Amino acid sequence: MPQRGRFVTIEGLDGCGKSTQVEKLAGALRADGLQVVVTREPGGSVTGEKIRNLLLDTGTSNLSPFAELALMFASRAQHIKEVIQPALAEGKLVLCDRFTDSSEAYQGAGRKLGSEPVRALHKILCGNLQPDLTILMDSDVAASVERARRRNCARTSQGKRGESDENRFEQESRAFFGRVRSAYLEIAQREPQRVALVDARGGADETHGQILALVRRKLKLAAKTA
Ligand code: TYD
Repeated sequence: MPQRGRFVTIEGLDGCGKSTQVEKLAGALRADGLQVVVTREPGGSVTGEKIRNLLLDTGTSNLSPFAELALMFASRAQHIKEVIQPALAEGKLVLCDRFTDSSEAYQGAGRKLGSEPVRALHKILCGNLQPDLTILMDSDVAASVERARRRNCARTSQGKRGESDENRFEQESRAFFGRVRSAYLEIAQREPQRVALVDARGGADETHGQILALVRRKLKLAAKTA
């Protein structure tokens, strides 16, 4: 059996700059000679991307919080089986944009379902798979939400009528995102070995430098010298 790869997840509020950091980190790790699989949740598999459309489209109305949680986990269970586990078995580094911490923060705290159902479902449906490292990008609630809304307004105005958008969560209130941020910080306090907090309020390059140094240190990766 090849050695198990490494599983790294990135978490943070909508609009905290996560997607940019995922791209930059993947590029740097590939330049270090690693085989990196970049993926995301909800989504990441063919079925998961269909579930993602359903979950994020503002056209999806009246979804109960438990139905939302169940769909997040349906996407995740498929993603683990189809993408994450096979890549880890091949010794690759899997870099995943959001994972179960998002469910604990958004559904558990944002939707007020509590952490217990999320953690129980993770055990049952995901074999309790834990990331080797989780990077939590911490940012201001107001600034992040503002950024996410601007981005999605641009995205929606470019989209064709009738196409699905990805704004459903971004329509939530400041109070919702305040609960999400507090839950993230609580998870980081509860699991300091796994979760590393990064201040994401600086520039993208500065944040990238912090994240890359952290990943190399925590995963004991050597930087390739030119
Ligand atoms: P994402 O595309 O990563 O949004 P962004 O790029 O704005 O950070 O994630 C989509 C949304 O799905 C995001 O608002 C958070 C939400 N989400 C949950 O509520 N629960 C979950 O378990 C996951 C994975 C995502």
